[in-house]
Amino acid sequence: MRASFDYAGARVFVVGGTSGINLGIAAAFAAAGAEVGVGSRSAGKVAAAVAALSAPGRPAFGAVFDVRDAAAVAEGIGGFAAAGGRIDVLVSGAAGNFPAAAHALSPNGFKSVVDIDVLGTWNVMKAAHPHLRRPGAAVISISAPQAQVAMALQAHACAAKAGVDMVTRCLALEWGREGVRVNSVIPGPIDGTEGMARLAPDAAARARVAAAVPLGRMGTAAEVAALCLFLGSAAASYVTGAVLTVDGGWSLALGGYAMTGGA
Ligand code: NAP
Ligand code: COA
Repeated sequence: MRASFDYAGARVFVVGGTSGINLGIAAAFAAAGAEVGVGSRSAGKVAAAVAALSAPGRPAFGAVFDVRDAAAVAEGIGGFAAAGGRIDVLVSGAAGNFPAAAHALSPNGFKSVVDIDVLGTWNVMKAAHPHLRRPGAAVISISAPQAQVAMALQAHACAAKAGVDMVTRCLALEWGREGVRVNSVIPGPIDGTEGMARLAPDAAARARVAAAVPLGRMGTAAEVAALCLFLGSAAASYVTGAVLTVDGGWSLALGGYAMTGGA
C-alpha cells in the first residue's frame, strides 16, 4: 500500500522516529519526498535510522536526546530547524510502556512513563513551536488506545496517554490562531512493534488481540503513517484538535488488549 501525497520540499521531524511505528512514519514522509529528521535517546538507533531514511541528495537529520530533558530537546529540534529554516510537520511519538499491576508499580515507575509521554510531549511541542508558527504547519501526536480505554496493568500508560491527548487538544486551541493544526493519532495493535511485544508477548496473546479487531488482524506501521501523511497535508486543512483512530475498528469492541506478563 502506498498513499500518494507529495511532500517534496517539506521538512518533517519525527520524535521517537528511530524504531517501530514512528520509524515507519518517518519512512513514509521520506518516501513522499520530505526532508526528514528523527530524534531519540540511543545514538546507535539514531544513526541507523538516519542511514535508512537518507536518500541521494536528501540526507536525513538525526539528534540524540531524551524527551524528558527540555534543553536537549530544544537543541535537537532547533538543530533540524536551523538546517532548513523551518519545520512543516512535527510528529511527537516517543513513549515508554510496560505491563505492571498497580500494586507492584513504584512511584518512579509510574513517573517514568508519565514523564516520557506527557512532559515529553510538552517539551517537544514547546521546542518546535517557534519553528512552526505559520499557516499550514502541522503537529501530530502519536497517542494510544490507553488514552480512551481503561486497561488492567496499564494505569500509568492510560494516565499518560490521556494527558498526551489533552495537551494536544489544548495546543490546537491556542495555536489555531497561528494557522498551526494539532491532531492526535491513536493506532490500534500494530504488528511487529516493541509495544505489542511488551503487551502481547506470545503467539497466543497476539492471536487474541488480532481476533478482537473487527478487521481481523493487527495493523501495520504503514497504515498509521498513511493517516499521518493525510494529517500533515493540505487535504486536512480544516482538521485540528481531532483524535483519530487507525485501529481496524478495535476500539468499537472495547474488549481491551489481551495482556500478560505484569508483576
Ligand atoms: P518503539 O519502537 O519502542 O518506539 C518508541 C520510540 O521512542 C523509539 O524510537 C525510542 O527510541 C523513543 N523513545 C522512548 N523513550 C524516549 C525518551 N525518553 N526520549 C526520546 N525518545 C524516546 O515503540 P512502538 O511500539 O513502535 O510505539 C511507537 C508509538 O506508538 C508510541 O507512542 C506508542 O505509545 C504508540 N502506539 C503503539 C502501539 C503498538 O501497537 N505498538 C499501539 C498504539 C500506540 P530510544 O530507545 O532510542 O529512545
Ligand atoms: N514493571 C514495573 N516497573 C518497571 C518496569 C516493569 N516492567 N520497567 C521499569 N520499571 C520501573 C523501574 O523499576 C523504575 O522504578 P524504580 O526506580 O522504583 O525501581 C522505573 O520504572 C524507571 O525505570 P528505568 O529503567 O530507570 O527507566 P528508563 O527511563 O531508563 O526507561 C522505561 C523507561 C522503563 C519506560 C523503558 O521501558 C523504556 O525505555 N521504554 C521505551 C521503549 C518502549 O517502552 N516502547 C514501547 C512504546 S509503547
